[in-house]
Amino acid sequence: MDAQTGLAIATSPNDIAAIPNLVGDINEFVKNLENGGNEARHKLLLKARDLVQALETPRETMIKHTWAQPGAAAGLITGVDTGLWVLMARDGDKPQKVAEGRESWNIPCRLLRHLAAMGYLAETGPGEYKLTNFTKSMSLPVISGGYIALLGGIGRSSIEFHKFLRKTNWRNPIDATKTSMHLAYGTDLPNAFEYLRSIGYGPHTNNHMGGYRQGRLPWMHESIYPVAKQLFPGADSKPDAPLVVDIAGGLGHDIAEFQKMYPDHPGRLILQDLPVVIADVKDLDSNIERIGYDFHTEQPIKGARAYFMHSIMHDWPDDVCKRILSRIAEAMKPGYSKLLIFDCVIPRTGAYWENTAGDMLMMTQLSALERTQDNWYDLIEGNGLGLKIVKIWRCSDTDVENLIECELA
Ligand SMILES: C[S@@+](CC[C@H](N)C(=O)[O-])C[C@H]1O[C@@H](n2cnc3c(N)ncnc32)[C@H](O)[C@@H]1O
Repeated sequence: MDAQTGLAIATSPNDIAAIPNLVGDINEFVKNLENGGNEARHKLLLKARDLVQALETPRETMIKHTWAQPGAAAGLITGVDTGLWVLMARDGDKPQKVAEGRESWNIPCRLLRHLAAMGYLAETGPGEYKLTNFTKSMSLPVISGGYIALLGGIGRSSIEFHKFLRKTNWRNPIDATKTSMHLAYGTDLPNAFEYLRSIGYGPHTNNHMGGYRQGRLPWMHESIYPVAKQLFPGADSKPDAPLVVDIAGGLGHDIAEFQKMYPDHPGRLILQDLPVVIADVKDLDSNIERIGYDFHTEQPIKGARAYFMHSIMHDWPDDVCKRILSRIAEAMKPGYSKLLIFDCVIPRTGAYWENTAGDMLMMTQLSALERTQDNWYDLIEGNGLGLKIVKIWRCSDTDVENLIECELA
């Protein structure tokens, strides 16, 4: 392609011919919006994205990626860090005037002008803005935490991933002790979790863990994994018998949801995570036991009906997962205990963007991965752990995670 053709392509819409059909589809999909639930909304959203991409010129896409989105990240992160979103949300839906230098609004006003130009704030007059639903939500720690932790804390891991690959001969990263995060931040700490804690971003990380899954069905919902059929029958009903152990369960949102959904469950519910995380747990039902525990050490709860892990295996490459799994397998009671893994199962084609995005995070920050079905069988059954996959309980295409039910072989 010569320079002239290249430039003509770069300044023409990506796919102008596709526009009429896309608009036609959108008009059709809109009709299902009212009664079609989240699936109809999601279908429309993907078409709307296709429409924007078809209309945009490559030059505009380039400006969006290299100027606009990093600039928006700067404004959004600063708004979280200074408490601006909380402050504005307190004043509700009123237009609010920026007063630079006013202590509580003490951020460069140009950040807000850009956020308004990007549609994240509504501009109501010169230097005057109203929150949108998005910026209102930024006052919630479960939504804002990721901006501080993933972008402000370790965001350079993905931007500088190409430098890491240059040094490692472009090989797929599989060593948890050598990641792009280590290179980008010049740290010797064992992993991104510890690095984030070391810079005071542990609570933001935990909040993000409680936030990214909002709006999705919990694993124990009967349309995903019918616990009343799979777990309760045959479970030891003695009060001291462990029912579910949530290993590395963070602040306990999954186990809390279980307790809420099945208040009459038999046995004990137990939350485990590193002592430093358990120390941060607040507002958890007092019937749920908390144990500070490192999953590389012997599992103290033996013979539970279920050992559950949510978003844990995807944080680690296979060698580390194997070590974690072997600790669980040692504690399982043959013919009784189940291992329940709630994580992505990426299809061979047509992967959903949230799954591929998670895979990019895992690769660039932890040298880990989201796994395909073949990866899961290799990990669970191909490593001499004595475990087998009984069933993969699938959710809808956009529910991201699936429940992988395993037992001792
Ligand atoms: C991606 S978060 C998932 C948390 C929770 N299961 C969820 O789905 O929200 C990973 C969790 O693993 C925990 N973790 C990391 N290393 C650990 C270790 N060696 N032992 C126990 N937990 C650990 C972290 O503290 C964090 O809570």
